[in-house]
Amino acid sequence: MRVRVDESRCQGHGRCYATAPELFEPDDIGNGHERDDGAVPAGLEDKARLAVANCPESAIDIEENG
Ligand code: F3S
Repeated sequence: MRVRVDESRCQGHGRCYATAPELFEPDDIGNGHERDDGAVPAGLEDKARLAVANCPESAIDIEENG
């Protein structure tokens, strides 16, 4: 599984890195970015889906088989 924040849609609500700091981090203006290459380590799949569901801008894409 892999996650990716679409920078054109992210408005800096911060719920991704609050919900799943293992997977997302803020930049210097508070917009979220996937950590590293966005690969979701085993066991964090539910957190990844929760972060996706909690983004008010639907800015996080998830690739189930990535
Ligand atoms: Fe941006 Fe959504 Fe996270 S708007 S900061 S990707 S919760």
